[in-house]
Amino acid sequence: METGMPADFGELFPGSIVSFLERENVVLFECDNGCALRIQGISPEILRFRFASEGHFEEDFSYAVLPEIRNQKISLKVTEREEGFVIDSGGLLVKLSREGLKIQIEDSKGNLLSQDEKGFHWCENHDFGGCVVMMSRVIQPHEHFYGLGDIPGHKNLRGQRRMLWGSDVYGYNSETNPLYKNIPFFIGLHHQRPYGIFFDNSFRSIFDFGNERPSVSSFWAQGGEMDFYFMGGESTAQVVEQYSHLTGRAELPPLWALGFHQCKWSYKSQDEVMTIAEEFRSREIPCDAIYVDIDYMDGFRCFTWNHSEDAYPDPKRMTTGLEAMGIKTVAIIDPGIKIDPSYSVYQSGIENDVFCRRMDGPLFRGNVWPGPCHFPDFTSERVRNWWSDLFPPFIEQSGLAGIWTDMNEPAVFNEEKTFPRDVRHDYDGHPCSHRKAHNVYGMQMSRATQEGLKRALPDKRPFVITRSAFAGNQRYSSAWTGDIQSTWEHLKIGNIQCQRLSLSGFSFVGTDIGGFSGRSDGELFVRWLQMGILHPFCRVHSSGDENDQEPWSFGEPYTSIAKKFIELRYQILPYLYTVFEEHTRTGAPILRSLIYLDDHDPECHDRAEEFSLGKGLITCPISKPGATGRWMYLPKGEWFDFWTDKPFRGGAELWVNVPLDSTPLFVRGGTVLPLSDVRQNSTVPLKFMELHLYPTEGVAEGSLYEDQGDGYGDSVKKEFRWNRGTFTQSREGAYSPGYHTYRVIVHSQDFGAKQISVDGGEPFEVANGQAFELPENFKEVVIESSP
Ligand code: GLC
Repeated sequence: METGMPADFGELFPGSIVSFLERENVVLFECDNGCALRIQGISPEILRFRFASEGHFEEDFSYAVLPEIRNQKISLKVTEREEGFVIDSGGLLVKLSREGLKIQIEDSKGNLLSQDEKGFHWCENHDFGGCVVMMSRVIQPHEHFYGLGDIPGHKNLRGQRRMLWGSDVYGYNSETNPLYKNIPFFIGLHHQRPYGIFFDNSFRSIFDFGNERPSVSSFWAQGGEMDFYFMGGESTAQVVEQYSHLTGRAELPPLWALGFHQCKWSYKSQDEVMTIAEEFRSREIPCDAIYVDIDYMDGFRCFTWNHSEDAYPDPKRMTTGLEAMGIKTVAIIDPGIKIDPSYSVYQSGIENDVFCRRMDGPLFRGNVWPGPCHFPDFTSERVRNWWSDLFPPFIEQSGLAGIWTDMNEPAVFNEEKTFPRDVRHDYDGHPCSHRKAHNVYGMQMSRATQEGLKRALPDKRPFVITRSAFAGNQRYSSAWTGDIQSTWEHLKIGNIQCQRLSLSGFSFVGTDIGGFSGRSDGELFVRWLQMGILHPFCRVHSSGDENDQEPWSFGEPYTSIAKKFIELRYQILPYLYTVFEEHTRTGAPILRSLIYLDDHDPECHDRAEEFSLGKGLITCPISKPGATGRWMYLPKGEWFDFWTDKPFRGGAELWVNVPLDSTPLFVRGGTVLPLSDVRQNSTVPLKFMELHLYPTEGVAEGSLYEDQGDGYGDSVKKEFRWNRGTFTQSREGAYSPGYHTYRVIVHSQDFGAKQISVDGGEPFEVANGQAFELPENFKEVVIESSP
């Protein structure tokens, strides 16, 4: 692996501190050899460290951390001691050595979180100028590492070395390094104390978690500054929340974006797309979106359609026809713009000077699907504006609802698989080479695309999906894990990638269900789908090279099982939407790894397959052929089998029998789980809402967020609380859903309602003690039960 180290590797270190200065709540330390360190308190639990090897700090700029967050400054208490300085933020205590600027960080109770080994050091980069900036720290006993975006391989990164340099990796496997996305954030956990480090540097970077030297973890980048945020917190969940505070929150997507999506490379004609849609409807398999891949275009020219009779003669007729069936159309767009003087986007790009140039001035030319292309510089605001403005006419003419941005690592069909390093970028007024801009290119493309959709459809919420990403990308799009193979091993890899992304602030993620390359079979497809319907983004996609991959492609019993699980996706949609809404406000991931659920429990440290959707549902996908059951771990607490209601005490491993038409699924005790009727798509009005109560010690709680599913109108947030037969609902917001009744189902053997009184009214008898109806607007219900 390219390490990014210069050939004449010579490490340089900070000298000894000769002065320190506190100004506007930032503390600056200077060393006798000119090296400087700035420490800024963003909050008591978040500290920012910036090192300048020669004392010159770069202009403060970041694509990941918004300026309003970057400029937060709490006051720090600095105490000078003989051996160095102590800097106290209230939540974190930094001990800084006078010699070499070495850092030790403790929490407010004096527990050690992080301890430098060599600490900050650097070596000069003779080829490009500047420095390779490095940080090395001691690995603490039993320390584990998590996060780092879409990296495959084991969930716990201990012992691994991973590079961040967005790459097009068709058919990757668990060893492939690097991958598509670049999220320089990881979580360390030892002695039950977690911390997070976000290295805000977009150069090619490397993270080593005891791979080179077993007791040392380090990270470095080929240029830029050593600029990192250190986050503390009581739990992994809190560290994830701090990171999401730093890099921003996702917007709530339209509800249809959470439905089931179908895709293939490629549906070659609009007739084929319509046939697929009709098949969904005639089989009554729910579906909210169909995707068109690159073959819809005229010679792979972005923003065009191949209008020939056997392709897409009238895209608007197709999208209108699909819309009438409740199906949205999403189209792929790549960054490469075909070099073709008769093509309007190319002409406009040339006229507006939007394409990336080589160092000496010529436009960069690279081959992708259409042959030779130029590439917009998405790191320029002017160019992003140009790109965003391409969407209103395109969307208007074609009736698209969402955009899929691909090949944005950026991928090029050359030896380096990307732009040459000398390609120039604006980097929003901080001109640089591709060395610095590469890792943010995809993010800036998805940003400009989201803005394009907002301009095209101002009354709708945008839906964008991206392949490449940088930290903070959750603000602009969803993501999928790229060209995964159709194998059992890859079902597992995809699951880990999604969990890891979710721990890294990016939760609206999913895999190509069934796998992209190679050949799936009915069993693999169905097992993968059983996992995929519990991932936040749920799309079947395949390369189409070897076989079809629609829910009915494998015949029976697979079609019926696929239908059952897609239907389950629609039943849990109100719950998923509620969890998503919470995610947009608090940053709490939608998809949650065991480590997020309980980092105090050693059983949760290394188990990689179990995950929960929100707080209430947990699963562990079947990932072996022929399996009719598996072992899985339930975190501490009480859990109910979703299928049988059987209660289980967590904190233990259990064997779950799951024939092909079932999957391990448990509901956390104490949950009120809203489930709706099955609709063919998410825009069909709900007929009813079921509230499933799973009381633990007589108590259950839950919430339900509802709105019209798209746009920016009214919403309502309902909070339910069940306490031994008293059931209350409080609501905030004016939105009123179409249904008028809740069907309440109490999943408790020892409860049987006899009489119910709603909002102080006359009590009435109920026929079935465990299932009864309540008006949607109830406030308080008192239930008399028979023992
Ligand atoms: C890339 C994408 C894949 C897409 C194909 C053709 O390989 O990752 O999803 O189908 O390009 O556009």
